[in-house]
Amino acid sequence: MNTNSRNGPFIINLKNYLETSGDNTIKIVKDAERVSEKLNVEIIISPPQPSLALIAKQSKLKVISQHIDLKKIGATTGFYIPEIIEKVGAKGSLINHSEHEIEIDEIKRSIEKLKEMKLISIVCIKTFEGLKEILAFEPDYIAIEPPELIGTQKSISSEKPFLIRECSSVINKRNLKSKLICGAGINKKDDVKIAIENGSAGVLVSSSITKAKNWYDKILELASAFNQ
Ligand code: G3P
Repeated sequence: MNTNSRNGPFIINLKNYLETSGDNTIKIVKDAERVSEKLNVEIIISPPQPSLALIAKQSKLKVISQHIDLKKIGATTGFYIPEIIEKVGAKGSLINHSEHEIEIDEIKRSIEKLKEMKLISIVCIKTFEGLKEILAFEPDYIAIEPPELIGTQKSISSEKPFLIRECSSVINKRNLKSKLICGAGINKKDDVKIAIENGSAGVLVSSSITKAKNWYDKILELASAFNQ
C-alpha cells in the first residue's frame, strides 16, 4: 500500500536516540504533526520500538516499526511480529536498515508478509548493487542509504547525487510500483531539494532532527523543501 499524498513521504527514524525517547517521543511527534499540517507533507514516524503503540495511539501521523520479526503468533518471546505491530496501530515497517540487516530471503518474506497485511514496506539498501537484488520483490519504498554517511553532516544529496539518480532511473525504467526514497546525513533543506530533483519521492532522516536544538524548526526546514 503506497502512501498517496501530495508531498513526501518524509520519514523520521528516531532510532534509539535517548534525546527523543521516553516522554520526549510524543513531544517531537507533536512537532512533526504541526509541520505536516502546516505544509501538507506526509511525515511518517519510526519511534523506538517500545513506544510504537503509544505513539500510534496518540498521533495522527502514520507510525512504522523500525524492524519486524517473522516469528509465529503466540509462544514467541522478545520479537516484533507484524501481527502485533498492526494490532497496536503501526502502518508498516522499515526492513533491512543498515543498522539491523537481515538476509535476502527474510527481506523477500518480510515484503510478502507486509503486502499480504496491506502494510507499508520500506526496504533499506546500502548500494546500487543492493537495489538490483530486491527490485523483483517490489516493496512500496526502496530507501538508498550509504552507511558511511549515516549520522554525519555529509549527506547523500551533496556527496552522491548520482547514486540517487541511478537508483531512480532503474526503478522508473522497470516501471515498478516501488518508489525510491533516500537518506544518510540529510541535515539541511537543500539536501532534501537535491534528493527530490534527482528522483527521490521522499527522505529518511534521523540525527539532524533528533539532535537538533529545536525539533520543530528543523523538521519545518527540511519539510519545506517538498513545497518548492
Ligand atoms: O533511517 C535513516 C537513517 O539511517 C539516516 O540517519 O542520522 O544520517 O539522518 P541520519
